[in-house]
Amino acid sequence: MKKVCFIVAMQGEAKPLIRHFGLHHIEGCFGSLPPQAYRASYAGKEIFLVTNGIEQETGLDYIGCEAAVLSAHLAVSSFSPDLIINAGTAGGFVSKGAEIGDVYLSNKYVVFHDRRVPIPGWDKMGQGYLPCVDPLNIISEINAKSGVCTSGSSLDITGDDLEQMKQTGGEVKDMEAGAVAWVASLYNIPLLCVKAITDLVDAGHSTPEQFNDNFLLATQRLDDVCFRLIDEKLVDKL
Ligand code: ADE
Repeated sequence: MKKVCFIVAMQGEAKPLIRHFGLHHIEGCFGSLPPQAYRASYAGKEIFLVTNGIEQETGLDYIGCEAAVLSAHLAVSSFSPDLIINAGTAGGFVSKGAEIGDVYLSNKYVVFHDRRVPIPGWDKMGQGYLPCVDPLNIISEINAKSGVCTSGSSLDITGDDLEQMKQTGGEVKDMEAGAVAWVASLYNIPLLCVKAITDLVDAGHSTPEQFNDNFLLATQRLDDVCFRLIDEKLVDKL
């Protein structure tokens, strides 16, 4: 496992990783497109990190599947990594045992919960079922849980989304993993998603408030697990 590329939506999630691995910004790597790339040699590996970049008008990080597809595609075509790690924050479910600050490694496959196409064949394509690496070799060595990551384009959740999660077994709700998993599958590159829980979707509290209140804590836990994956060479056991 020589080249590892982190795909991270938000600058706030990426900053501790950039600092820890001593990553340098690659100026103008993707021309005028928003994603930003960083690189360093670290612990015998080449580490890359690509963020989604920032929307000029608002100064906000681009989030969601469209931005993640662009970042992942640019990352893979520019750096040909041996492993992609999609690191970010996510919503969890009390009913599935999640707590704020828990870190999940993706397990089994990655799905979507808001793509409803009730036509045989396209229904399954809509839901994704995209491959990810089996984390079970490393899960006992790292302070993390494992679960099925499920992606959609909204921070909130609808009854239809919940219904689809029941069908797919989705447990960790984010806005990018499915998109990164799709690109990784097209290029046949192993993917691990690392997701830290900022909010509990089924706890009856406001998701935006939980997200804002818990973002720093979740990001610290997220980055801690990401550091250990590289520092303790756990990625080599995947
Ligand atoms: N990121 C953090 N919390 C989330 C949620 N509840 N849904 C989607 N993405 C998230």
